[in-house]
Amino acid sequence: MAAMADTHGPGAASQRPYDIVLFGATGFVGELTARYLAAHAPEGLRWALAGRNSGKLAELRGRLAKAYPERPGLAELPLLHADSGDPESLRRMAAGARAVATTVGPYIRYGTPLVAACAEAGTDYLDLCGEPEFVDLMYLRHHERARESGARLVHACGFDSVPHDLGARFTVERLPEGVPLRVDGYLRTDARFSGGTFASALTAFSRFDRMARTARERRAAEPAPAGRRVRTPVGTVRRERELGGWAVPLPTIDPQVVGRSAAALERYGPEFTYRHHALVRRLPVAVGGLAGAGAAFALAQHPATRRMLSARLAPGEGPDEERRARSWFTVRFVGEGGGRRVVTEVSGGDPGYGETAKILAEAALSLTCDELPATAGQVTPAVAMGEALTGRLVRAGIGFRVLEE
Ligand SMILES: NC(=O)c1ccc[n+]([C@@H]2O[C@H](COP(=O)([O-])OP(=O)(O)OC[C@H]3O[C@@H](n4cnc5c(N)ncnc54)[C@H](OP(=O)(O)O)[C@@H]3O)[C@@H](O)[C@H]2O)c1
Repeated sequence: MAAMADTHGPGAASQRPYDIVLFGATGFVGELTARYLAAHAPEGLRWALAGRNSGKLAELRGRLAKAYPERPGLAELPLLHADSGDPESLRRMAAGARAVATTVGPYIRYGTPLVAACAEAGTDYLDLCGEPEFVDLMYLRHHERARESGARLVHACGFDSVPHDLGARFTVERLPEGVPLRVDGYLRTDARFSGGTFASALTAFSRFDRMARTARERRAAEPAPAGRRVRTPVGTVRRERELGGWAVPLPTIDPQVVGRSAAALERYGPEFTYRHHALVRRLPVAVGGLAGAGAAFALAQHPATRRMLSARLAPGEGPDEERRARSWFTVRFVGEGGGRRVVTEVSGGDPGYGETAKILAEAALSLTCDELPATAGQVTPAVAMGEALTGRLVRAGIGFRVLEE
């Protein structure tokens, strides 16, 4: 049985009935995460499934027990009823757990009361949020309270943004200390979206003005790192001969997360620059991708056209098992500084779902089982779990390799 150290916050948290509660367990990624925990949770881990629909939770528990008959206790896995619209149910769930991992999104629509409940109860919180507005809003509203209570609020614990955040850190650790550093990340993947992800992206597009306003409020409120500078500029479309393709700027939440890790950790040097890109083989693909994203952005601005787009892929739907099994990703990092250059790569299977579920589950296990640095408040995956989570992901089959040093 794995040792379970209570490494932060009030010791009382270790007396709670559950180490990990998985909220939204009945959704597409929720079920994949439940399956991962069912197959890999260390013996003795006290975990539970939570959601708004007790019947669906019981059916899921039955599927888990049937799929993993060799794993003890799955048929008796506790089921907790909790609904995003019922803050009391969220307070009960947060107070009974050391960590809550949630897949209930879009987070800007459903997520706030759970973050509030975890910040208040000193409960670690993890999500799959790729929505910058939500992350900034939770910083403004709940970071201070979580620092006081000892709760670690860790957003973006899926493909957004763990491979990028830990990969940038892995690269920085191979560059000289105390000098300006620059890292470029290049993502390649052939994956498809689920309905839940599509709904979250459309919601984010439709709230662009509010997202920009909240980001400004956060910049005004958040202290800058003393005596250091962190930049995450948006790059331009350009040919990358050495990488064999075209780099297209990728304005996801990932560069923001990497930048926050750099601001928190001195190891990233006195001046750190990160640029984030997609890498595509042919220019027409780059142009098509930009045009498609632009069209979705424009259509998301009006309720009628947004509804039309939403209907194309409903929440709960996603790529089938065969399609997921064929999917893959690589993120290549090129880091430079102090006269050195390193090239590294993080790689894995289906980024959106299989690997996202694996990453969320391993992050929850890391927060509850590993010896970690003392942190509290809103923290990035690299700051909260850095090396420990990288080690877990490597053991779980996600590659972290140095290609050139
Ligand atoms: N970071 C990443 O890389 C990444 C990758 C994939 C997905 N995501 C994000 O993860 C989230 C989930 O995606 P998905 O595809 O799994 O979505 P999904 O299949 O639609 O699942 C959503 C889950 O939320 C639950 N839910 C909805 N409203 C609720 C409420 N009021 N109270 C309690 N539970 C509620 C649903 O419960 P019912 O079953 O009862 O309907 C379901 O369990 C999305 O926000 C998506 O953007 C992120």
